[in-house]
Amino acid sequence: MTGTFVGKVALVTGAGQNIGRAAAMRFAAEGARVAVVDIVPETGNETVRMIQQRGGDAIFIQTDVTKASEVEAMVGAAVNAFGRLDCAFNNAGGAGQYYVPLTECTEEKWEWTIAFNLTSVWLCMKYEIPQMVKQGGGAIVNAGSLVAMAATPLLGAYTASKGGVLALSRTAALEYAKAGVRVNVTLPGAIRTHKHEESMRILGATGAPPSMPMGRPGEPREVADAVLWLCSDAASFVTGAAITVDGGALAQ
Ligand SMILES: NC(=O)c1ccc[n+]([C@@H]2O[C@H](COP(=O)([O-])OP(=O)(O)OC[C@H]3O[C@@H](n4cnc5c(N)ncnc54)[C@H](O)[C@@H]3O)[C@@H](O)[C@H]2O)c1
Repeated sequence: MTGTFVGKVALVTGAGQNIGRAAAMRFAAEGARVAVVDIVPETGNETVRMIQQRGGDAIFIQTDVTKASEVEAMVGAAVNAFGRLDCAFNNAGGAGQYYVPLTECTEEKWEWTIAFNLTSVWLCMKYEIPQMVKQGGGAIVNAGSLVAMAATPLLGAYTASKGGVLALSRTAALEYAKAGVRVNVTLPGAIRTHKHEESMRILGATGAPPSMPMGRPGEPREVADAVLWLCSDAASFVTGAAITVDGGALAQ
C-alpha cells in the first residue's frame, strides 16, 4: 500500500503504545491524518511526535474510552480538527493482570474488564457511526482477540468481553451495511508487547500457554497491517469479518 489513505482521516484508540501506536503510524505513513487517542497524554503525545517527525499529520485527543461523554467529545474533536472521519480502529483494551479462575473473579475485576474491552467498543461505534453515515460511509475495525474463538483459562472476563466485541461487531456490520459503513474485527494471538513475557509466564504456569506454530509471537505492526487492509478500499466487500493474526494458532 502506498498513499492508500491520502485525504482520509483515521482515529485510533489506545494509540500511546504497542498495537495502537503501530496502527496510528501505519495510517499516517499511508497518508491519513490521524487522531491519536489515549488516556495517557505522555505516550499519546509521543505517538503524535513520532508521526510528525516522519512528515505525517496527527493530533492527540485524551479520552477515557469507558466514559460516554468523553467518547462523544473524542469524535467531535477529531471531526473539528480534520473535517471528517473515514476509519476508526477501536483498539484500547486489555486483560490487565487479572489472571484468575472465574469463581475467584471479583465483581470489580469483571466490571472493569467488560467496561474497558466491550462497553468502550460500543461507545466508540455509537459516536463514530453517525459521522460516517453522514459522510456516506466509513470503515471500523474493533480489537478482538484469539480468546474470542479459543478460550484461555484464567481469562474468563477478558474472554467474555472479546466474544462480545465479535458479536457486537457483526451486529454493527449488518445494521450499517447499506449505509456504507464496514465493521470488522481483528483476532490477534500472542503479540510481542511489553506485557508479553509476563503473560507467557503466567499462562505457562497454568499448563495452557498460547501456542505459537511459527515459533514466535507476532509484532504489533503485523496486526496494524491487517487493520490497514480492512480499512482500505481493497477490502470494500469485507464486512462482519473476523481476521486472525495469530501465526496459525487457531488452525490447530
Ligand atoms: N498484545 C497482545 O498480545 C494482544 C493479543 C490479542 C488482542 N490484543 C488486543 O489488542 C489491543 C491492544 O493491545 P496492546 O497489547 O497493544 O495494549 P497495551 O496495553 O499495550 O495498550 C493499550 C493502550 O490503551 C490505553 N488505555 C488504557 N486505558 C484506556 C482508556 N480507558 N481509554 C483510552 N485508552 C486507554 C493505554 O494507555 C495504552 O496506551 C487490546 O484491545 C488487546 O486486548 C492484544
